[in-house]
Amino acid sequence: MCGIVAYIGHREAYPIIVKGLKRLEYRGYDSAGVALLTPDKALNIYKKSGKVSDLEAETADKDVHANTGMGHTRWATHGAPNDKNAHPHLSQNGEFAIIHNGIIENYSTLKQALIKRGHEFKSDTDTEVLIHLIEEVFKNNSVSFEEAVRMALTQVVGAYAIVILSKSDPTYLIGARKGSPMVVGIGENEHFIASDATPIVEYTRNVIYLNDGELVIIDNNKLTVKTIDNTIKSPYIQELEINLESIEKGGFDHFMMKEIYEQPRSILDSFRGRTHVNDATIAMAGIDKFEDKLKNIKRLLIVGCGTSWHAGLVGEYLFEDFARIPTEVEYASEFRYRNPVIDENDFVIAISQSGETADTLAALELAKSKGATIFGVCNVVGSSIPRITDAGAYTHAGPEIGVASTKAFTAQVTALILMSLSVAQKRGTISKERLRELLIELETIPSKVEEALKLNDMIKEIAAEFKDSRNALYLGRGYGFPIALEGALKLKEISYIHAEGYPAAEMKHGPIALIDEEMPVVVIATQHSNYEKVISNIQEVRARKGRVIAISTIGDEHIKDHADYVIPIPQCEEAMLPLIASIPLQLLSYHIAVMRECNVDQPRNLAKSVTVE
Ligand code: F6R
Repeated sequence: MCGIVAYIGHREAYPIIVKGLKRLEYRGYDSAGVALLTPDKALNIYKKSGKVSDLEAETADKDVHANTGMGHTRWATHGAPNDKNAHPHLSQNGEFAIIHNGIIENYSTLKQALIKRGHEFKSDTDTEVLIHLIEEVFKNNSVSFEEAVRMALTQVVGAYAIVILSKSDPTYLIGARKGSPMVVGIGENEHFIASDATPIVEYTRNVIYLNDGELVIIDNNKLTVKTIDNTIKSPYIQELEINLESIEKGGFDHFMMKEIYEQPRSILDSFRGRTHVNDATIAMAGIDKFEDKLKNIKRLLIVGCGTSWHAGLVGEYLFEDFARIPTEVEYASEFRYRNPVIDENDFVIAISQSGETADTLAALELAKSKGATIFGVCNVVGSSIPRITDAGAYTHAGPEIGVASTKAFTAQVTALILMSLSVAQKRGTISKERLRELLIELETIPSKVEEALKLNDMIKEIAAEFKDSRNALYLGRGYGFPIALEGALKLKEISYIHAEGYPAAEMKHGPIALIDEEMPVVVIATQHSNYEKVISNIQEVRARKGRVIAISTIGDEHIKDHADYVIPIPQCEEAMLPLIASIPLQLLSYHIAVMRECNVDQPRNLAKSVTVE
């Protein structure tokens, strides 16, 4: 939520910042701004509501020369998305400028106190309050700029990743984080700060992931990391794993389509090196360490939000099927405020693409505080969730830039398949033969996904039929149910068509009233355990003139008698169905959204990384 990027060094800062902001636009895109500080101490601030391209248009005839600067792309929390609320914000005296990702929860109390002491605010944001506070601490305590920032942060409640510069020193930049991510890039006589590594990767591969409660100070090309309580830290410099191609569109019109087509590779990367078919074993080093505890596990909790919650639901079926562990899936936002009953015997798995979702992180912290063992299934390496978990599995899907999650979902499901099988093996709830069969099947999935992608043209034609629908229903049973939920979410979030995912049998307890000849009903009707029952549910839809689009198994001729449109996908083990059946649903929502001229990669009101609760 909100993207920040800053540069200090020998190059022109503005092009680096603007390019970086475009890469971070997935985090928010309702306004953008830059602060540029020249060597002769001129501070130029440009900001504009709308996208980074609107900011570029705004600055087309402006002076943008500077070697120090910072930029922000916003997802509004406090204050409407307009020019005045766009970042950067200035202190009262114009000396300090700030960009901020996160929420200052006690901003209202701080603001009232500052107003009483004569401060005037130009925006409605919490961020402006923080920079006024820093100015006040600086003046009242006769301390250095760095010390003023540190002292002010001790008064702040909430989450932040901030970068601050001071007009009087163009060789100086301060960053700080608590609850929102921050990466520092170290180049040759230059430094970068950003919300993730994508703005940095083409300039340097050496980065530091700042920990919560740390500040980074870049002073005349010298970098220092210290904590908010003033302890100097020796930062761990790591090498970036991502490459430039993985964050560019590579010939596709949209990142979402590129990411849908990457799935044969991303699924393979999720299990590559972890499965050993010959001796029917799974290697997941972190989890293996908990073998004894896992053998006696009584209950498993899975937490996540949105698409990751849907992957969690698949996880529930997997862990119950294979490992025979009672499993509950929780919306992280509900779990964290519900006073849940949880203790040191529980295991909690958090699922998150970004590894930064505020609610998921907080749910996990709560579970940890109650003594539970906490695991993570995350995509972004070095993000907050993997840093606090006891163990876990990276999904290795590579950067996902389209706001609607596609390859991250199938990679999460792949990781959960492996985790559940690994735990089942430890608990002795699966035979070696069955495990081997499943591992062999998993190896076939990338080519089956490849097959499913070949349905693209057919799906585009179906999309043309349904592009003007106002509602849609997605139905499934068993593993088909989370797929239905995920299909419906994909459609609503990028095409703005209202869509509901439902357990197929639940339809007759309410949603059936919605069905008429206008209503497209997408049904997961593959030849698995509930096939006959799903066919009965289809009949119920057809009897009310609903138009059925069936996701079926290749070779099923019978289904043609029941559905208006049939999308045949390759046969697979039922537990792996989400990996294949999700593909046509992703494609369907993509084409409908493109036909409706929606912004597929950056749907309205959304942001990819939801770092506020
Ligand atoms: C939908 C989508 C969101 C995310 C949710 C959680 O396509 O992407 O629903 O799944 O915001 O995000 P992560 O997985 O980063 O915790």
